[in-house]
Amino acid sequence: MKIGILTGGGDCPGLNAVVRGVTKAALRKGWEVIGFKDGYKGVVENRFENLDDRAVSGILIRGGTILGTSNTANPFAYTLEPFGSAGSPKDLSGLAVKNLKKAGVNALVAIGGDGTLNIAYKLHKNGFPVVGVPKTIDNDLSATDVTFGFDSALKVATEAIDNVHTTAESHHRVMIVETMGRYAGWIALRSGIAGGGDIILLPEIPYRPQDILKAVNDRRRRGKHFSIVVVSEGAKPENGEMTVNRVVAGSTDPLRLGGVSYKIAGLIEKNIEVECRVVVLGHLQRGGSPTPFDRWLATGFGVGAVDLIERKKFGRMMSLSCYKCVSVTLAQAVGKLRRVPLDCPEIRTALSVGTSFGNAKITA
Ligand code: F6P
Repeated sequence: MKIGILTGGGDCPGLNAVVRGVTKAALRKGWEVIGFKDGYKGVVENRFENLDDRAVSGILIRGGTILGTSNTANPFAYTLEPFGSAGSPKDLSGLAVKNLKKAGVNALVAIGGDGTLNIAYKLHKNGFPVVGVPKTIDNDLSATDVTFGFDSALKVATEAIDNVHTTAESHHRVMIVETMGRYAGWIALRSGIAGGGDIILLPEIPYRPQDILKAVNDRRRRGKHFSIVVVSEGAKPENGEMTVNRVVAGSTDPLRLGGVSYKIAGLIEKNIEVECRVVVLGHLQRGGSPTPFDRWLATGFGVGAVDLIERKKFGRMMSLSCYKCVSVTLAQAVGKLRRVPLDCPEIRTALSVGTSFGNAKITA
């Protein structure tokens, strides 16, 4: 048995822990493992390395991915040189499968978010044996309780919120911390609760400018001359749009969000006599060593993926359900974004400790 592994989409802490988990578990069964470089790009270009015990030693605690990744390499609509071209997406899935077979790969472990898993599902439907492992800091995949990478991102975001508290208090300022998360507000919500954010703005709850101003003013009336706003990059005003920072051609989702926090700062400074400062956390949330939880989850997912292959359960994805590593079908897993439901316990928790969601219609 020979397993191929690839990591696709944006990197996050824990990817290497999965690569290690898959490799060690497979080697102990006497199987061989190879790692494709730069996600599906390496499969199309036939670039891979042998993964032995030495190759995966010491990587458990390392962020990023030793295999490299790509968020624009889609074998079914390939736009990258030298085999594709930006203007006209080509279907190179046949070449990808040919390369997998030429390398002697019996099963592919695809580690990634919705884009990567969608491609994995298509390869599976075309008859190639695939299992998926879900990752993303955004925690927006519907078929798992949580993805690895999320907890590590929360750690960075919560520490940032903690750190701006003291400067906000000393200068009597409003500090605005912008988190990632794309169309799901999980990072802002959980780190906002953990860090004691006074106002949390989520993509799922379009904000009303007057309600943000009221929340800041209410605090000032109570003698709190500083406020912490935690804003998710996908937050938008009622009847307004998200703030798009750039468009990445060829990406499964070309929109890159970012910068809404500057709009919030402008709104507050225009209407209240208070200074605002903005901290956009950006890719800091994807860096650093994975937390113990993410190491545990990623290792469990890696070992579970090898189990699935051994039992010939292809077309499935590892998933966490009530703290147990289980699996679901890729069909169940892909294409369904898990956003913050307005009736979730976290929203109630935040409202109950006096947090504003910048929209007075949201009440406990
Ligand atoms: O999906 C993970 C994520 O970090 C999002 O939170 C963010 O919107 C996006 O990727 C950023 O992508 P890039 O690395 O291409 O800037």
